[in-house]
Amino acid sequence: MRTVLKWAGIVVGALVLVVVVGGFVASRVGAANIARVHEVPVTSLTIPTDSAALARGAHLAGIYGCQDCHGADLSGQVMAEEGPARIVASNLTPAGIGGEYEPEDWDRAIRHGVGVDGTALFVMPSGAYHNISDAEAVDLIAYLETLPPVEKDLPPMEYTLLGKLLAAGPLDLSKGVYVDPTPTSSPAPGATVEYGAYVAEGLCAYCHGEGLVGKEADQPGAPFAPNLAASGQWPPEQFHQTMTTGVRPDGREMDPEFMPWTMTAKMTHDEREGVRLYLATLAE
Ligand code: HEC
Ligand code: HEC
Repeated sequence: MRTVLKWAGIVVGALVLVVVVGGFVASRVGAANIARVHEVPVTSLTIPTDSAALARGAHLAGIYGCQDCHGADLSGQVMAEEGPARIVASNLTPAGIGGEYEPEDWDRAIRHGVGVDGTALFVMPSGAYHNISDAEAVDLIAYLETLPPVEKDLPPMEYTLLGKLLAAGPLDLSKGVYVDPTPTSSPAPGATVEYGAYVAEGLCAYCHGEGLVGKEADQPGAPFAPNLAASGQWPPEQFHQTMTTGVRPDGREMDPEFMPWTMTAKMTHDEREGVRLYLATLAE
């Protein structure tokens, strides 16, 4: 009996050891994945200073939803304290990272998903911004560089043990890194299918999938992002109403946390109309 117990003890002890060592190894693998440096092609950009460019840049920050995470004055905020990481959207003003960033650094972070140190950014949705043209990116960067400085004490972004374990496998941070070159030019903003395609196949496709055919969300708890062909057939006023209030034709209000209608609400009517015209060309 004693020997049996002894053996059982040894087996349990060995199992615990396997789990502990396995967890340790996995967390080391995860930490290495988090620290991996990614090479991305950045474009050499000339940043404009004229007021039209700055105004367009401010508008772009609105319709691409930067404030939704980085805060109304873009001075950053803690987005989550629990789960895989303490998620901190950086202070983009000159008192924060804006004070150190060169145009290439902005480009690397915004359109490629990589921080100044070359590591992958987490939660920052560069997949929605990878399609932004150089012509628009320079306006956006020009605006960011002229933000008033806002001092803010933010804790560092930090992965938890859970985050490190996940980063060893299921949480593939390199999926948020975009290595393809970015487009140089884009259609003039307005109520055209071309402009709508440019916005929809970048920004909207990030969640609704390529071709806007619908896609399962990456974000835990988010509903399925549906095929947008049907909404392209809604009466135009209905489409604009839903995209500015979040209320769908059946009366249900969409949570802006999952479907960011707060940013489509900031588009000009013509820009939104361009998106609608493009969606109307999609086959159901
Ligand atoms: C869904 C939330 C979200 C949105 C929307 C978002 N960001 Fe971010 N952003 C983050 C988070 C979180 C980080 C920090 C990621 C990290 O450190 O791994 C970040 C990091 C960055 C960085 C790198 C900063 C650094 O510390 O090096 C820049 C630059 C940036 N964002 C700019 C923007 C701009 C410009 C927009 C709008 C076009 C935008 N972000 C929209 C969440 C967001
Ligand atoms: C961050 C992810 C995300 C982005 C970016 C996004 N959507 Fe969505 N969208 C969703 C999700 C998730 C739903 C489903 C929401 C629900 O059912 O409550 C949705 C629902 C919708 C609906 C309702 C469709 C229907 O048939 O009920 C429309 C229309 C829509 N989105 C249009 C757009 C457009 C246009 C863009 C780009 C300008 C866009 N979305 C960008 C996530 C996103």
